[in-house]
Amino acid sequence: MERMIKKIRHLRGEITPPADKSISHRSVMFASLAKGQSRIKNFLWAQDPINSLNAMKSLGVEIEITDSKEIIINGKGLQSLKEPNNVIDCGNSGTTIRLLSGIVAGQPFLTVLTGDDSLRQRPMRRVIEPLRLMGSNIFGRLNDRFPPLVVKGNYLKGIKYIMPVASAQVKSAILLAGIYANGETEVIEPHKSRDHTERMLKNMGAEIQLNAITKKASKEHNNEAYSIKIKPPQDELSSIDMTIPNDFSSAAFFIAGACLVPGSEILIKNVGLNPTRTGFLDVLMQMGANIEILNVKQQGGEPVGDIVCKTSNKLKAVTVQGSLIPRLIDEFPVLCVMATQTDGKTIIKDAKELRVKESDRIKAMATELKKMGTPIEEFEDGVIINGPCKLRGAEVYSYKDHRIAMALTIAGLIAERPTLIKEAQCVDISFPQFYELLEMLQK
Ligand code: S3P
Repeated sequence: MERMIKKIRHLRGEITPPADKSISHRSVMFASLAKGQSRIKNFLWAQDPINSLNAMKSLGVEIEITDSKEIIINGKGLQSLKEPNNVIDCGNSGTTIRLLSGIVAGQPFLTVLTGDDSLRQRPMRRVIEPLRLMGSNIFGRLNDRFPPLVVKGNYLKGIKYIMPVASAQVKSAILLAGIYANGETEVIEPHKSRDHTERMLKNMGAEIQLNAITKKASKEHNNEAYSIKIKPPQDELSSIDMTIPNDFSSAAFFIAGACLVPGSEILIKNVGLNPTRTGFLDVLMQMGANIEILNVKQQGGEPVGDIVCKTSNKLKAVTVQGSLIPRLIDEFPVLCVMATQTDGKTIIKDAKELRVKESDRIKAMATELKKMGTPIEEFEDGVIINGPCKLRGAEVYSYKDHRIAMALTIAGLIAERPTLIKEAQCVDISFPQFYELLEMLQK
């Protein structure tokens, strides 16, 4: 499906973005390991987390969905998973395949995990290597590089693992395997990535210890490495009753839209504000954006609040690097769009990980924003964007990557002449109501 996007007059009104994708995945996976009945409200009914839900069903977990779309999971405990009688299809979802690989690494049966064309080209050695060190028999296609993954569960032992790149998916896979291992498991991340796994498992009674390790990276900034230790639980994990916060990463497209489109003012309700996710807000504040946070409270072990954003003039270019990158990893595409309207050179570096997301997001944004008239230079680990520039509509491609489609749509809202987004349907991966909400705010 393609979408024609036109320059608009304003974005005004109030929206509630969809539920958090990362937390939705974790809620169904972790509740499936608990003993007792868990209730999950405000689950994200989009393709990615639905794949996690179906995967847990394939592993024999009893899952009910009520008329009001609440999920009820009757968890039978850590040792209750069953061998799936078919290959598990994780679709487009890196979180599903990587977290599941950690869960099944210590199960006494065979699991085969695969996914769509994009997922079958995403790197898996990063989970295979640590899980194998823990004792799992895990293999991937092309000499362990890619899915499908074949996992023959085994007795696991705890390890100390220093991760070469910050990744919440890899960290979570190791911690989940750590639940089934003999002895303590320690993961050290070079920078702190999203910590939803640690928060949720801790709430469920897992013994988790966190420690920051601060290193001086350069005169300008420190690198905050992070150690997470987990001990196999003596008892079962307790069930959860939670309402999932709304997704900051989905809200980010509207935050950017309201900042860039003249005459805008929007209120975004009940958004997850976990500091490991909100690097994009810090950068926008530094740029001088007109943003306010209200009503901060705790929900499901996570901070949430409302965000008010208004049209922001005279935005300044900034440099984004180091520890900030994992805190805004999914906002890179829309950050590039913001940078087209800032005064000066926006430099984004240390972001090589973006080359192995649902698409090569560095190449995708550099190529497509260039078509729209942006002076953008691509590097191995980032981009330099020279702003401000006048965007012009063009025919652009989403690379079937939901966040690229949404970022280019925001660019289209301020471009002269219409922008045609090819393959825009992929927004369904994380945000099926994206275009509907966008239209609502134009009224
Ligand atoms: C996610 C972690 C991030 C992020 C992805 C979701 C998660 O990936 O980009 O969209 O839910 O753990 P990495 O952990 O690979 O950086």
